Amino acid sequence: MCGIVGCVGAADVSRVLLSGLGKLEYRGYDSAGIAVVCDGAVDIRKSSGRLARLLAACERDGYPQGGAGIGHTRWATHGAPTDANSHPHASGDGRFAVVHNGIIENWAELRRELEAEGCRFESETDTEVIAHLVERAYEGDLLKAVMKAALRLRGSYAAAVVCADEPGRIVAVREASPLIVGIGAGENYFASDVTALVERTRSCLYLDDGEFADIRPDSVSVFDAAGRERAKEVVRVRWDVRAAEKGGYRHFMLKEIMEQPGAVEATIAPRIAAGRVCFDDEGLDDGAFCGVTRVVIAACGSSYYAGQGVRSAFERLTGVPTSVELASELRYGSTLVNASTLVIAVSQSGETADTVAALRECVCRGARTLAVVNVAGSTVARLADHAVHTWAGPEVAVATTKGYTTQLSVLYLIAVRMARALRCIGTQEEARLVRQIAALPRAIQQAIDLNPCVSELAVRYKSCPSLLFMGRGVDWAVALEGALKMKEISYIHAEAYAAGELKHGTIALVEEGQPVIALCCDERLAAKVAGNILEVKARGANVLAVACLDNQDVVALADDLLLIPPVPPMLSAAVSVVPLQLLAYHVARERGCDIDKPRNLAKSVTVE
Ligand code: AGP
Repeated sequence: MCGIVGCVGAADVSRVLLSGLGKLEYRGYDSAGIAVVCDGAVDIRKSSGRLARLLAACERDGYPQGGAGIGHTRWATHGAPTDANSHPHASGDGRFAVVHNGIIENWAELRRELEAEGCRFESETDTEVIAHLVERAYEGDLLKAVMKAALRLRGSYAAAVVCADEPGRIVAVREASPLIVGIGAGENYFASDVTALVERTRSCLYLDDGEFADIRPDSVSVFDAAGRERAKEVVRVRWDVRAAEKGGYRHFMLKEIMEQPGAVEATIAPRIAAGRVCFDDEGLDDGAFCGVTRVVIAACGSSYYAGQGVRSAFERLTGVPTSVELASELRYGSTLVNASTLVIAVSQSGETADTVAALRECVCRGARTLAVVNVAGSTVARLADHAVHTWAGPEVAVATTKGYTTQLSVLYLIAVRMARALRCIGTQEEARLVRQIAALPRAIQQAIDLNPCVSELAVRYKSCPSLLFMGRGVDWAVALEGALKMKEISYIHAEAYAAGELKHGTIALVEEGQPVIALCCDERLAAKVAGNILEVKARGANVLAVACLDNQDVVALADDLLLIPPVPPMLSAAVSVVPLQLLAYHVARERGCDIDKPRNLAKSVTVE
């Protein structure tokens, strides 16, 4: 999705903007641009395509010089990714420039109105209306003009405006789209996510919906829509700059796969003390769980699959009915949510539009809410009663890996903590479960050690038109995640299904040479999955099994094997997913795909 960045007061604003945009590339984009206020004018450079084209244009034509600037990476929604549709967009008189992340829902109506008044539009975007509205509202004070223009906007927007007449000032506004202000010394910044800021500062403040930031070199003031100044807490960002760099790896995705043992360890270790699960820092005590009669896990994409992967842990350990809902369905659906429901919103970014909306809806319905997020200060974290962070560090590759496994690990711990609160497990049982969870980083490392073997296997899959994944129980949840990884980065059609459903339709797809990836890490279900393997093999399928070392039923049947160490079935998703991540990675590499920035995808889906 679009990324925005801005800087005021730095000696070389253009380079700060371009470097910040580089950090936002991972979000997915198809054009980029910057605008800098210099010598009483706004100098705009923008171009379709990758940031490298914009950099080349700046090299050729010179970097705009000046005291305040804004930048943007655009993921096209309204109009094709052309130079004209790239941000920043200028007002008719060229004295204002705007960058915007989100969607202005009433743009067509506003555009008709502005055109009737004589405005000429240069692009097909929804954003350009903001530039014209600000121009019309301006009476010598940029903040007042942006506030007045915002009154006309409906939809979601994190937007920032510069003005030729006010060279040391940026005004930014947030409504349902993330916006973070970075505090420096003699220079200040804003961005749509902290990754663009950590190189310059670790001190940030997070705008809430309906807030405006007046950003100058020596001050940042935040106001509500009525013009009242708001006191904001400055938050220290824990992320390390190096964590968002490739560190010698060819792709962020591979680096992030390799980081999983450390990320899971960092996530679980602070929550374990003397054989017990402890979420005291998050204020998650017995009271948070007592009286809960239903758990609803709400999420999108891989975070939804992480929810699927822990559903049985919640039900087995707590005895409380647990459902996993797609946030995009939950927000408009009829899922029963009330004051005795615990809604757990799971989101790596904490900014996914559907997850945010579903959580808001559940808050309105009176549910108790808990966020599992990787980004501190994100919208999901701030909306929920309690926020539990995964300590995965920045995840840059669009395809999530360490985000997913850290979500699983912390959700296992939450299930154990809830079971204790509800008196479903005793001290000894809790200590046993804690030992099993604490052993996950080592088991994940052992799964990572399969990398050379997976890399060899991948050559065989690179030309397959389609892959089928199957499993039962937790293995089915992992099959879904494995198929998603394969689709999103290799562009090979992949489908996952519950192995027991095979005979109800999907087996019709199996013919000579069809690759089937069978997940069999739950020995209680091994004989059943073995039966499914026989069925597909009888029809010519070639089976790659991901199984536990001691699962002999399956080992004897598969054409190829990836063996992971024995892990309790309830926790196996965090380990068995690793070979599937590696397989998707190597297949995509063999096919020459843009692994970290797959086509059409965005890291953080901030629009519906
Ligand atoms: C997974 O590889 C995807 N990039 C995607 O499905 C992602 O998990 C989904 O968009 C949800 O994102 P979130 O965890 O940031 O809410």
